[in-house]
Amino acid sequence: MKWSKLFGMGAFLTFCVISVLFLSVLGQDLVKIESASDEAVSTYQYHFVLVPEELDNEYWQLVQKGAADAAEVHRVYLEYLGPKQADLDDHLKTIDMAIAGHVDGIMTQGLDAKRYKPLFQKAREKGIDVVTVDTDAEGSKRQVYVGTDNYYSGFIAGQALIADTKGEQYVGIVTGRLDAIHQKLRVKGFRDAVSGEKRIHIAGIEESAITKSGASGAAYKLLNDHTQLTAFYGTSALDGVGIIQATEQYHSSKDVYVLAFDTLPDTIQALDDGKIDAVVVQHPYEMGYQAVESLVRLQQGDKQEPLQYTGTSVIRRGDLPLHQMERPQGVQP
Ligand code: BGC
Repeated sequence: MKWSKLFGMGAFLTFCVISVLFLSVLGQDLVKIESASDEAVSTYQYHFVLVPEELDNEYWQLVQKGAADAAEVHRVYLEYLGPKQADLDDHLKTIDMAIAGHVDGIMTQGLDAKRYKPLFQKAREKGIDVVTVDTDAEGSKRQVYVGTDNYYSGFIAGQALIADTKGEQYVGIVTGRLDAIHQKLRVKGFRDAVSGEKRIHIAGIEESAITKSGASGAAYKLLNDHTQLTAFYGTSALDGVGIIQATEQYHSSKDVYVLAFDTLPDTIQALDDGKIDAVVVQHPYEMGYQAVESLVRLQQGDKQEPLQYTGTSVIRRGDLPLHQMERPQGVQP
């Protein structure tokens, strides 16, 4: 066996051992797409890691599914590692660990450019390719971004609110994280779109910590603090369902307009039931698939577009059932 192959196998096995030790210390889950059998080690071409901000999140499981399907086609050994529940420090630590394990490529979010830039630089210095997915860290050393144009998605959300409502509107914004770049862009795009409409006022903004219960608590606080609220805008995947949980508990007779993000099954059900009025569509499955393909091309030395947007649009109840591109796994036409 060649020395380079032996070295590659050694680095890979070291990474597996470090992964297990590290994650058991943190009490996190290590989810392996394939088991590290001798066969897998000898048949894979590349070793990539997908590091989402939260493992146990339906949205990220769709990204993982896309990545796993592409990995199978391209003989990639793929791992899905990260915090069980969103935690910026653990997210950064997991990326650092993947760098230490000398993987071939990393797919992750660039949630806060300042803290992610040094890590991406370190990865590149070690010859590891970096593709940001879902959230870009502009100005960092990542080679490619695959995901939604987050500013634009917020802008079309604002345009939807303008088109769908009449008269004075007081909007409560529920956002995943106040400090995450993509969430900030979705809020900024929204604010810019409605800024010319004097009848639309942003009443307040609260954080959901990207959980349904967090979104419900945030919406409840907004309803309490701003009694004139007429509309909600939720900027991350579980915010819409959290918002309607709060409006239902609030026992208000007012019909509040709800604009949500992402076509997860519960959100689509709520759109169909008339509880959510419009949804901003993203394509998480395609993000995962294209990110793996992008890393494969980087490994092969191909030049590519640094910004690879996966498309976004707004749908209403009349657009159901969803077309193939908009349909998440598990939602039937
Ligand atoms: C965002 C992801 C986020 C998820 C949380 C999505 O809208 O694009 O970055 O992790 O919501 O549920």
